[in-house]
Amino acid sequence: MAGVSFNNITKIFGKDVKAVNNLNLEINDKEFMVLVGPSGCGKTTALRMIAGLEEATEGDLMIGSTRVNDVPPKDRDIAMVFQNYALYPHMTVYDNIAFGLRLRELKGFFWQISHSAEAKKIKEDIDARVKEAAKMLDIDHLLHRKPKELSGGQRQRVALGRAIVRKPKVFLMDEPLSNLDAKLRIQTRAELIRLHRDLGITTIYVTHDQVEAMTMGQRIAVMSNGVLQQCDEPEVVYNAPVNKFVAGFIGAPPMNFLEGKISGGKFDGGDISFAITPGHPVLAHEGKKVTFGIRPEDIYDAKLGLIPVTAENKFTATVDVLEKLGAEDTAYLTVGAHNMTATLDPAARLEMGTVNEFAIDLAKSHFFDGETDIAIR
Ligand SMILES: Nc1ncnc2c1ncn2[C@@H]1O[C@H](COP(=O)(O)OP(=O)(O)OP(=O)(O)O)[C@@H](O)[C@H]1O
Ligand SMILES: [Mg+2]
Repeated sequence: MAGVSFNNITKIFGKDVKAVNNLNLEINDKEFMVLVGPSGCGKTTALRMIAGLEEATEGDLMIGSTRVNDVPPKDRDIAMVFQNYALYPHMTVYDNIAFGLRLRELKGFFWQISHSAEAKKIKEDIDARVKEAAKMLDIDHLLHRKPKELSGGQRQRVALGRAIVRKPKVFLMDEPLSNLDAKLRIQTRAELIRLHRDLGITTIYVTHDQVEAMTMGQRIAVMSNGVLQQCDEPEVVYNAPVNKFVAGFIGAPPMNFLEGKISGGKFDGGDISFAITPGHPVLAHEGKKVTFGIRPEDIYDAKLGLIPVTAENKFTATVDVLEKLGAEDTAYLTVGAHNMTATLDPAARLEMGTVNEFAIDLAKSHFFDGETDIAIR
């Protein structure tokens, strides 16, 4: 077991493509860390550097207390599950899972055919590990099948099984659920969480899906353009994003942003204005440009009385589009030139095209500096 740390790691492709820019990130032993960010932000590159498939241009990459920049991939004791995993089509599920182990532990042809006591013991050990992993992933009844006789989700689990049997120091997973349908994705997500709990192996998991990040990560590291924006527990990233990028990226539907300024101790967004809770540091920005942020679930239908409604926190908006999702409704609102999204209790029974009163939970307001986009709190 081991932790992994990026110390001032930069990766430049060609002359000037800075895929990863001065990354400092410490992943603790046994931790489940999720790297999340939009396409092209450097997630795969970061992962491939840990695996040794890509060389860092600058900085020190540590696994445990060893600097591994110059350690060849095969000696790093890492198992990687790629987005586009490939199974050997001519081999059974069993052989697919056992293949890497055999290659590693029954080195060379001699061992494979040997009937010595030592070879026998290794083979028994491999057999036990394959069966244990297959059981864990609920594919133990499929061991004799070939990949073409499996569903997509079963194949994905075989690919995971192949990584699990290795019992590596570190698991690297690059969007391993991307090929699964929505239901299987949620199911496998839960399986991976359980697997991590059972095996306790340091896992670094890459996704561009913020829901996956929030649900799976013990901590999540949000990246943008090769730069680490914030690394913390999911709740912290969600409730206290360090800047507008993180605030907008984590959370679905995304946080609403309104441009405006602080004027007379209030947020003034032109067509809409809100009070500011007493003592909030944004009050020191009087007269300055700020972005106001409020999450869709912190907006309420005023008539339901779910939060106190005052002149300070209410606004009038037109319900442009309403999506009824069963447990909640998503309402797309317009207020003058502003658009806002609200997640509402279906009891509101709103109708598209009508004008209604809404209220926000002022304590859940976010403010970002109008110039730097850094959170003011
Ligand atoms: N071999 C390469 N040569 C040149 N540029 C590359 C190479 N690999 C990646 N890049 C560039 O580096 C940046 C980061 O790529 P990377 O694959 O790490 O992104 P990512 O975050 O994994 O994105 P995605 O979510 O789309 O998989 C991108 O701008 C990409 O075009
Ligand atoms: Mg990628």
